[in-house]
Amino acid sequence: MKKMYIVGNWKSNKTAQEANEWISTFQNRQETFYQILLGVPFQLLPLLHGKLPIAAQNVSPFVEGAYTGEIAASQIKEFADWVIIGHSERRNYFKEDDLMLSQKVMRAKEAHLSVIYCISDAQMPIPKGVDIVAYEPLWAIGTGKSDTPQNANAVCQQIKNHFFGDILYGGSVTEENVRSFIDQDAIDGVLVGGASLDSKKFTNLIKNATS
Ligand code: PGA
Repeated sequence: MKKMYIVGNWKSNKTAQEANEWISTFQNRQETFYQILLGVPFQLLPLLHGKLPIAAQNVSPFVEGAYTGEIAASQIKEFADWVIIGHSERRNYFKEDDLMLSQKVMRAKEAHLSVIYCISDAQMPIPKGVDIVAYEPLWAIGTGKSDTPQNANAVCQQIKNHFFGDILYGGSVTEENVRSFIDQDAIDGVLVGGASLDSKKFTNLIKNATS
């Protein structure tokens, strides 16, 4: 059986209190054939460290230094082994371009972080060093309208022609449709936004994906 990734992405959601409530009702049964990861806001990294595998959702393009408001890769590495880079919300709202994103990947790799890199079509460049790619069509993110499993599989297959790592599908994945994506040959897991915010829903999603 192939190894599968189920990655939650809380985006800019949850206070420490809400994160503690989520953790208290989440039923985590890590197995060898799948890896669960949770992308959390920076302030929750120390709180959730050691409770389950976590990822940061962004990283500074610079090393530590005089860059007010930035979090450097070495600071993330104290608490997490993963970082999500290039999410379409970073590209759109914060104008992160390919050059900046490749600098972020470089900083992450220097600090020995593993990188999940988001792209919205098969033609977008993927910097050297990226460990996992997430294919997320823009129109499917947060809309309730996911890509079809067949089309997502075809795009992931196209990406696999030039990127030799694992590929996730993301965009309106739910506990109801997760299995249809996981079952595709070229899809190695899912990146889940909205449906990861409720711990019961996320627990069910993992159950449906893995049983
Ligand atoms: P969604 O978000 O599951 O809410 O569509 C996915 C993502 O943005 O990673």
